[in-house]
Amino acid sequence: MQKIIVLTGAGISADSGLKTFRGADGLWEGHHIEEVATPEAFARNPRLVYEFYNLRRAQLLDPAIQPNAAHKALAEFEKSYPGSFHIITQNVDNLHERAGSENIIHMHGELQKIRCLQTGESFFWQDDLDETTPHPKGIHSSLRPDIVWFGEMPMHMAEIEELLSDCDVFLSIGTSGNVYPAAGFVNWTKGSCYKVEFNTEETPISEIFDRTIIGPAAKTVTEWCRDFLTTK
Ligand code: APR
Repeated sequence: MQKIIVLTGAGISADSGLKTFRGADGLWEGHHIEEVATPEAFARNPRLVYEFYNLRRAQLLDPAIQPNAAHKALAEFEKSYPGSFHIITQNVDNLHERAGSENIIHMHGELQKIRCLQTGESFFWQDDLDETTPHPKGIHSSLRPDIVWFGEMPMHMAEIEELLSDCDVFLSIGTSGNVYPAAGFVNWTKGSCYKVEFNTEETPISEIFDRTIIGPAAKTVTEWCRDFLTTK
């Protein structure tokens, strides 16, 4: 039974109404990434960074933001596929979970988690966060979004490396191929691994894949999952 790994990026959530990072204007919700998604930005202007992530976190509670057909197709695939199946996501939203996926690795953290700066422990959190937020355990320490910022080490890398080195099918969905290490994951798979990219356009790494399927993920991923299960 083939072992399948799916890497997802902001493009899979675009059809749910969440903005991707590198839009046509090069800005993320009106900000340069360095203004809001680096440890330096947090040190320089914590209020702006807290506020930025508060808005992103609040968006997840907006009833208009729902998992789309691509998230659902992957969740259904996982339920019906008897082999090994894992999603590695760069996304900090919770749409894979809400669609029903179970084997999910959040390599860039999660909007609905906050982290204690002193102990590193993280906590589920749906509300706003700022300097005045009481620590869930009463510790006298600051809290930050549990997000991997530029310049920081992605989470769960040992597990990711092990999964990639042993997978037979690698699907890369809605990611620009600009941000490492995720952009290099396709090269961490073994030579015999079948590699498919799903995007609305070619990316700088398209040629490494056996196939690039152009179109919105909500359509292309749904079709691919259906075809794979019916031909196996
Ligand atoms: N279906 C498929 N792909 C899409 C869709 C769609 N409906 N809409 C956009 N895309 C593609 C874009 O063409 C682009 O290649 O999704 C990709 C999104 O790229 P980015 O915005 O760069 O997002 P991502 O690759 O996830 O960014 C990686 O960078 O900012 C950091 O930590 C952040 O996790 C993020 C990482």
